[in-house]
Amino acid sequence: MKAAWATDVHLEFLKGDGFARFVAEVRALDAEALFLTGDIAQAESIEAMLRRVRAAVAIPVLFVLGNHDYYRGGVAEVRAMASALHVGDDGLRWLPAAGPWRAADGTVVVGVDGWGDGRAGAPETSTVQLNDWLLIGELSAAGALYDVAARRRCLAALADADAARLEETLRGVTAGAERVVVLTHVPPFEGACWHDGEVSNGEWLPWFTCVAVGAVLLRAARANPGVRFEVYCGHTHSPGVYRAAENMVVHTGQGRYGATFVRAVDIA
Ligand SMILES: [Fe+2]
Ligand SMILES: [Fe+2]
Repeated sequence: MKAAWATDVHLEFLKGDGFARFVAEVRALDAEALFLTGDIAQAESIEAMLRRVRAAVAIPVLFVLGNHDYYRGGVAEVRAMASALHVGDDGLRWLPAAGPWRAADGTVVVGVDGWGDGRAGAPETSTVQLNDWLLIGELSAAGALYDVAARRRCLAALADADAARLEETLRGVTAGAERVVVLTHVPPFEGACWHDGEVSNGEWLPWFTCVAVGAVLLRAARANPGVRFEVYCGHTHSPGVYRAAENMVVHTGQGRYGATFVRAVDIA
């Protein structure tokens, strides 16, 4: 049994037959489910895009949301939409709301969106400006574009809420599990924050690493040495593999505007 995994597909940037090629790549794997680890589209287009993907691939679509999925909208409104999807279609699951998904062999798949929470690298001196500060309603309203302290407060609060929810979910699934797959958008460790084959520098790390989620994952890995944890993330668009603990490996996936990269993930 296997799943198809793609991250940062940014579907609205696909031109010509890009969408059809993406669907063909997924279908060619004959997978049990499709994992999408965020940056699927933008606030105005994500619901229609998710429904289009689900209809085209005809397998369960398990997803988390990335920062771009809130662009030109807001976190609360997009999450409200995402929370309702699985009620009408059990195969279209925003994992934080729809809950854990169990593959045929008992592998449990859980999800958390995650945010670059301004805690890694050098947030005080970083000159990186992301569109997030302007295009995501809650961040823009908090003055995140110009006020670094407000930006960090806002991102840390979002990340902490995500991490707390993940911790509760993990508590419910780790007992008796052999393998837990965690889907998330933002790399939860500095070591998983790849850029061109190397770890990102202090300028980028604050906005590309979710330290809060990483702490929860490490606690779960240490508390459950008999469980294998596999984390799949994206956001940096640069692929790599990082071993965070004896029993935890983090895969960061490739992304590029206008292209999709689909990988098989063994879930048996
Ligand atoms: Fe992206
Ligand atoms: Fe992203």
